[in-house]
Amino acid sequence: MLYYKVSSESIFFIPSMSDCDPQPSFFPDSSTLSSLTPFVLLNTGARMPLLGLGTFQLRGPEDTLQVVDSALSSGYRSFDTASVYRNETDLGHALRQLLPKHGLTREDIFITSKLGPKDQGVKAREGALRSLELLDLEYIDLYLIHWPGTQGLGVGDLRNPKNRAQSWEELEELHTQGRLRAIGVSNYTPGHMKELLDVCRVKPAVLQVEFHPCLVQEDLRRLCREESVCFQAYSSLGTGSLLQDPLVVQVAKGCGRSPAQVLLRWAVQQGVPVLPKSSHPSRVAENARVFDFDLKPEDMERLGNMESGQKYCWDPSHVV
Ligand SMILES: NC(=O)c1ccc[n+]([C@@H]2O[C@H](COP(=O)([O-])OP(=O)(O)OC[C@H]3O[C@@H](n4cnc5c(N)ncnc54)[C@H](OP(=O)(O)O)[C@@H]3O)[C@@H](O)[C@H]2O)c1
Repeated sequence: MLYYKVSSESIFFIPSMSDCDPQPSFFPDSSTLSSLTPFVLLNTGARMPLLGLGTFQLRGPEDTLQVVDSALSSGYRSFDTASVYRNETDLGHALRQLLPKHGLTREDIFITSKLGPKDQGVKAREGALRSLELLDLEYIDLYLIHWPGTQGLGVGDLRNPKNRAQSWEELEELHTQGRLRAIGVSNYTPGHMKELLDVCRVKPAVLQVEFHPCLVQEDLRRLCREESVCFQAYSSLGTGSLLQDPLVVQVAKGCGRSPAQVLLRWAVQQGVPVLPKSSHPSRVAENARVFDFDLKPEDMERLGNMESGQKYCWDPSHVV
């Protein structure tokens, strides 16, 4: 059940806390009513919107401009890109052009990018500075090590752990210098996480991994909860494959919503931030309408019982 608590400064949005990862608090965006998107609080103290726009496979300046325009109109204030998506330049241009139109400034939005596997190790600083330059930003809100391995090395190559440790040190330095406001990792297994948590000077703020009803990642979620690392979902729609799942479709019919909204609501109702991607402005808007309804506890449970370990993206489990 979504409920609202009024404090002296603001309204807090709190989803069912029984299922919820404990670290999030939910605040409405102060800028406009239409952007009433809740936030999670990172261990840096920064607010990260619970809803962000995924941009994998979003290409070209015109399409990017159109989709980002629709996203800003629909209340998105967070954008997820990566060096390997090759759209950092287009996203940076689109935001610079569109923020004034929407009455927003740089401080109103949250931008995530990621270090490419080819830049792991000695090239990490150069890779992160390249992202800053392509996005044309003074700072990036969140920068993630995209993948635990290094491009060109086998999954069992012992240079992988050495390189990711070096990457982390470089990101820590850029964080200290204020160029990367928060740093984190993606596609790390519990083993990779423990290795990092044992030696890091700056704790990762976020772990971004695949998460949907068929892949509930209990062990990683528990670890994140214990270590105050925000657990963030990617591919919440199973890269589109879960939209036709009979149970998802049935739950959607039962609550008068679309399958995409059900899958996204299932995650945000547990306090897990999501990053749906669409190249269609109407779907971008549809995917944002997930904060004005509740899934019944029995539907949350039925969806959670779909767990099968199914991955639609890459599998990091063999990277040493
Ligand atoms: N860190 C990582 O390694 C990693 C890996 C994967 C993804 N990610 C991030 O997470 C984001 C989302 O993941 P994803 O792109 O893999 O997949 P996703 O968001 O689960 O699904 C995207 C697919 O669903 C379709 N879709 C979206 N909304 C829809 C709707 N309302 N109705 C019908 N179809 C809809 C899209 O098609 P159309 O575009 O044609 O609408 C697209 O084919 C990525 O874009 C990226 O930013 C990160």
